[in-house]
Amino acid sequence: MKVLISRDIPRRGIELLTAEGYEVTVCPDDRLLTQVELIDLARRHDALLCMFSDAIDKHFLNECKHLKVIAQFAVGYDNIDIAESTRLRIPIGNTPDVLSGATADVAFLLMLAASRKGFHLHKSISLGQWSFFRPNAHLGLELRNKTLGIFGLGRIGMEMARLCAGAYQMKILYHNRTNNAAAEKMFAARRVEFDDLLAHSDVLSVHSSLTEETRGIFNKNAFCRMKRTAIFVNTARGPIHNETDLIEALHDGTIWGAGLDVTNPEPMKTDNPLLAMENVAVLPHIGSSTIETRDEMARVAAENIICGLRGKRLPTIVNPEVYTNPGASNPLA
Ligand code: GLV
Repeated sequence: MKVLISRDIPRRGIELLTAEGYEVTVCPDDRLLTQVELIDLARRHDALLCMFSDAIDKHFLNECKHLKVIAQFAVGYDNIDIAESTRLRIPIGNTPDVLSGATADVAFLLMLAASRKGFHLHKSISLGQWSFFRPNAHLGLELRNKTLGIFGLGRIGMEMARLCAGAYQMKILYHNRTNNAAAEKMFAARRVEFDDLLAHSDVLSVHSSLTEETRGIFNKNAFCRMKRTAIFVNTARGPIHNETDLIEALHDGTIWGAGLDVTNPEPMKTDNPLLAMENVAVLPHIGSSTIETRDEMARVAAENIICGLRGKRLPTIVNPEVYTNPGASNPLA
């Protein structure tokens, strides 16, 4: 069996695959492959381990319908046409849970950095702007006893709630399609309508997936309904916020600050006005980027590939319908 990995991953994942006797090809990691190149390579392999930046769309899937399994090295999978994968009976796996703590840490870091202008002030020192002590300069916002609003309270949102409730006794509000009973029990979290989340959050942190429903939901209209002292944090997917509207809202003081680990587009252009704003902290999509977490992600992704190639159910299956739909040719159907 041949496995294609679209970008180099921690050794642990590759070793698990080679221990199975698979022939593993790792694409060179110094540039993004075009879709044509990825298709050309994937055609010569039985399984694909891919990244969220690979476009696994209808075209790709139909060109590579021979693939026995696709394992995404991420929890989010908005780059993959799941309906088409299911139609073609290709099981898709992702890497949930193992990255929740690391990703929430980045949301927490960005919240704190924005609230104290941390990234801006760090940069200002290298620009020779550290002069004398001024009691009215560089004033940030306190977080103690404030309200955290979570948009999409799942596994990563739970970790963010844990950090904010523990560190600052923040009150937790959330907006979800369904109740999160664990969060209500553990953090006295309260489920509210979207409008109430906007109106009452001091920090509004986005942890939802990108869907047609959430695309661009944080737009001018939403920012206008937030507190003027609010901090907007997005560590989920850039297209959930409208970046032009966000820039305008920060520029004219509609909201106070922002912390972004995801931008729209990625990578962010170097002349993006957000990079010059004091109350904004931006990171280059590094939510899960710790040695421990990436190692675990490599393990989970490799295990998904191994199960897929053995004809077994993937441990973290995204489209379980491949196993249950009528007429399935899959042995587990
Ligand atoms: C990263 O963005 C992920 O979805 O894991």
